[in-house]
Amino acid sequence: MKARIVGTGSYLPEKILTNFDIEKMVDTSHDWIVTRTGIEERRISAADEDTSDLAVKAAQRALDMAGVSADEVDLIVMGTVTGDYPWPATACLVQAKLGAKKAFAYDISAACSGFLFALSCADDFLSHGRGKKALVIGAEVFSRAIDWTDRNTCVLFGDGAGAVLLEAQEGDSGVLSSHLHSDGSHFEMLYQPGFGTRNPPSFEGLEARLTFLRMQGNEVYKFAVRSLTEVSKEALNAHGFSSEDVGLFIPHQANLRILEATVKRLKFKAGQYFVNVNKYGNTSAATIPIAIDEANRGGLLKEGDLVLMASFGGGFTWGGTLLRW
Ligand SMILES: CC(C)(COP(=O)(O)OP(=O)(O)OC[C@H]1O[C@@H](n2cnc3c(N)ncnc32)[C@H](O)[C@@H]1OP(=O)(O)O)[C@@H](O)C(=O)NCCC(=O)NCCS
Repeated sequence: MKARIVGTGSYLPEKILTNFDIEKMVDTSHDWIVTRTGIEERRISAADEDTSDLAVKAAQRALDMAGVSADEVDLIVMGTVTGDYPWPATACLVQAKLGAKKAFAYDISAACSGFLFALSCADDFLSHGRGKKALVIGAEVFSRAIDWTDRNTCVLFGDGAGAVLLEAQEGDSGVLSSHLHSDGSHFEMLYQPGFGTRNPPSFEGLEARLTFLRMQGNEVYKFAVRSLTEVSKEALNAHGFSSEDVGLFIPHQANLRILEATVKRLKFKAGQYFVNVNKYGNTSAATIPIAIDEANRGGLLKEGDLVLMASFGGGFTWGGTLLRW
């Protein structure tokens, strides 16, 4: 029994924030941002649009593609670190809004690796017979978790959501394996300092800046290229495959330079890997499912293709998943 993707969906908020818009907010330029990151624009949620709203739209599109109704879904696993509330899990809000009455639902906190960590959980449930249909979602509203006066970080992120519907099926298609890793010794290189138990909110010293993402860009860059490359090789080696066998490589879309350095090390050819970071920036846990949906609807995924996905993120966390489309 394998967990096979039978529907994909994504949702990007309407509002586009270009690099030229950001030039008016902080001391930066379109050329600097494009040269260092490849990002040209990103999407920003409307004031009344929360992470659960983005997730519901993406999930509904995945359900519609598969012709499955929400009440047939057994579980919902969602990667996010910008949920509507610290708790309950945003997946629970999504469950209620979708009307997925019989589904149990929970969030995975693995930052930008959230979708692949969530996919691995759902795959384990389905391949062990604990349910037949699972929604796996990556959704983030990072625009509300970054400091819009900090040019080092505000140019990098955007909002969005992507979802896949997994179904347990006999046959060769589906998830082949997931390879997940974490190293918490570097957590301060990419994290949100408040408001957990370390830096709780208080009436005296409520410090809004603590809720903004903090990052050591150079260190994250080096870690990203290394971890994406290693975990991709690990996933391929586990099945005796090489880069040439891969139909489409879908890496986490954080930065075009990271992506190009990785595909060069892995010897992927032009057209063998997916890029949309120029349009959306880094949408964290949402980048991979948005890319899957765009690749699927764009006709880039053919039955039987080998698809390799790889991610890295705060924690640090990193993962690679290989599947047969
Ligand atoms: C953030 C990143 C683009 C910066 O690029 P870089 O080539 O490493 O640039 P540096 O950090 O060396 O900074 C160079 C200079 O540019 C400046 N700079 C930073 N952001 C800038 C911006 N938006 N516009 C103009 N200048 C900027 C810095 O202040 C620094 O100036 P200084 O030398 O006077 O101090 C790069 O490190 C990166 O992509 N890191 C990974 C980030 C990431 O993907 N995070 C999410 C992981 S899931």
